[in-house]
Amino acid sequence: MKNTVLSLMKMKESREKISMLTCYDYSTARLMESSGINMILVGDSLGNTMLGYPDTLSVTMEDMIHHGAAVVRGCNDIFVVVDMPFMSYQTSVYDAVVNAGRLIKETGCNAVKLEGGAAVKDQIKAITDAGIPVVAHIGMTPQSVNAFGGFKVQGKSEAQAARILQDAYDVQEAGAFMVVLECVPAKLAALISEKLAIPTIGIGAGEGCDGQVLVYQDMLGMFQDYVPKFVKHFANAGEMMVQAFKDYDQEVKAGTYPTEAHGFKIEEEIIEKLKE
Ligand code: KIV
Ligand code: NA
Repeated sequence: MKNTVLSLMKMKESREKISMLTCYDYSTARLMESSGINMILVGDSLGNTMLGYPDTLSVTMEDMIHHGAAVVRGCNDIFVVVDMPFMSYQTSVYDAVVNAGRLIKETGCNAVKLEGGAAVKDQIKAITDAGIPVVAHIGMTPQSVNAFGGFKVQGKSEAQAARILQDAYDVQEAGAFMVVLECVPAKLAALISEKLAIPTIGIGAGEGCDGQVLVYQDMLGMFQDYVPKFVKHFANAGEMMVQAFKDYDQEVKAGTYPTEAHGFKIEEEIIEKLKE
């Protein structure tokens, strides 16, 4: 049965952990759907994983719609969240509502996610008021990489930790039904998870959150440019893929693939006629 905002929030009450993975395309969405995970995130991390940018800042609304719609076409049964890209909501409450609406209308997703706490309270409230469920995202928010001076754990000092806790209260009060906690100390994430009524989804946030999200290429071992500390490889799909590419290369070059079994037939007579 497909999850809803209500069923996901109930999972927190009954202490059932929520599983979420990123996804950016149709065929992977088909595979994820058969796995039993609770939610898919079409993350703006597609800028890194699918498009090869060093960060998420270049990702556009068109990119998110293109990939979001492909994922939704692959899903009947999973709750799909699409990220709002950099500068699609920071500029004004109006822009935030218009762009959240575009993501919902043009992809068919179930909710949108945006980064920030106190600074985007008004945006979260306005989008929620428009009937669009919002997932918030606080802690290390990659769209602020230039302000942070790098992808660094946030919330280690007392002042930072207090600010992140306040951000958590702020996004909940503004109407977010869920919040992603990225790269914050485990004990801070656990405290926030305890204090909030809405579910927390951790990534690099320890074991005390209400759920977990990972970038699928990271957890499959497909993305080796950089492996963050919090990533666990649940498979070595990258190695499997390289081996398969090598085998294919060798067989094509050796003439052992394709064989007759892979070809299509035509009546011999026709070929004989063409030879004349
Ligand atoms: O874009 C993304 O993949 C994300 C997750 C890491 C939370 O925002
Ligand atoms: Na993101």
